[in-house]
Amino acid sequence: MTTVSVFGGTGFLGRRVVQRLTVEGMTVRVAVRHADRARSALRAAGLDRVTVFGADVRDQAAVATAVAGADAVVDAVSAYVETAGVTFEAVHERGAETLAREAAAADVARFVLVSGIGADPESASPYIRARGRGERAVQQAFPGATTVRPSAMFGPGDALFGTLAHLARLLPVLPLIGDGHTRLQPVYVEDVAEAIARILADPGTAGRTYELAGPTVYTLRELFSIALRIMGRRRLIVPVPFAVAQVQARLFEMLPNPPLTTGQVDLLKADNVASATLPGLRELNIQSKAVEEIVPTYYRYSVPLSVILVTAGR
Ligand SMILES: NC(=O)c1ccc[n+]([C@@H]2O[C@H](COP(=O)([O-])OP(=O)(O)OC[C@H]3O[C@@H](n4cnc5c(N)ncnc54)[C@H](OP(=O)(O)O)[C@@H]3O)[C@@H](O)[C@H]2O)c1
Repeated sequence: MTTVSVFGGTGFLGRRVVQRLTVEGMTVRVAVRHADRARSALRAAGLDRVTVFGADVRDQAAVATAVAGADAVVDAVSAYVETAGVTFEAVHERGAETLAREAAAADVARFVLVSGIGADPESASPYIRARGRGERAVQQAFPGATTVRPSAMFGPGDALFGTLAHLARLLPVLPLIGDGHTRLQPVYVEDVAEAIARILADPGTAGRTYELAGPTVYTLRELFSIALRIMGRRRLIVPVPFAVAQVQARLFEMLPNPPLTTGQVDLLKADNVASATLPGLRELNIQSKAVEEIVPTYYRYSVPLSVILVTAGR
């Protein structure tokens, strides 16, 4: 693999994939909607040699330009909230299919689709259903595609612990969605980026599906407790029924950066852990890192600016 087009290459996961492939000496292209923002972010990260394409996955011609001449394509595009024209179906199903079809037409050798544990084409949840149908459409359009399904990812800038830290700062109580018994197996985002790099380096991974999960399964309530312990805070944890959380998420989705989305609420209705049937990080020879090892290294940076200023002024 020498030239890789990473769609969604400025995202939480995508930017780590770009970094990782660049370190390997590959020629990396980033394809996103906001090309100018991507160029500034890449420059700030010292990745000036990465080429940026303004390409919305809903725009077939732009996709074709961004994949032409590439040896591999990674789809790390995400839509967490539906807005006018940007539906889960348009991005995760039809957008993924367009990418796979254009990659196949351009004789691209490898295709990696980033999906998620729990993806299900028959789900009643529009988000989970689009993910499942996207996987199916990609396999049909590009039969050798490799699918990776991460569990909830953690790392600096994550939605999981970042949102908890934010809420714990703002509220005297923490809302626990459902009864808190949903099981998750959070995975370090750098381990997922490493997995994608190894998949691209090994032709034997073509056509396979990998479930990428961390070393430990936690209930949601346990994750809340761990987060509070790391932050050194005490908060009352109050269960919120799924129906109430759905309404809250719908309201939050009107904000530019919603702390909770309906897709996330849907995902929390079922356990989000690796099945025993699919390969994962171990098969890629990656020793997965634990929440307790990584989260404390960046949670200290989530102390509010006001606290830092007050402390510095003493
Ligand atoms: N984060 C998690 O915990 C988690 C867990 C499991 C699975 N996943 C999956 O991992 C993948 C990456 O997620 P993420 O959290 O890294 O996403 P993210 O941070 O929201 O980044 C999304 C990226 O996609 C680009 N993008 C969005 N819409 C696009 C479109 N229509 N056409 C082209 N590019 C578009 C964005 O850039 P522009 O806005 O400039 O277009 C950005 O680079 C997704 O498939 C997600 O479902 C994530």
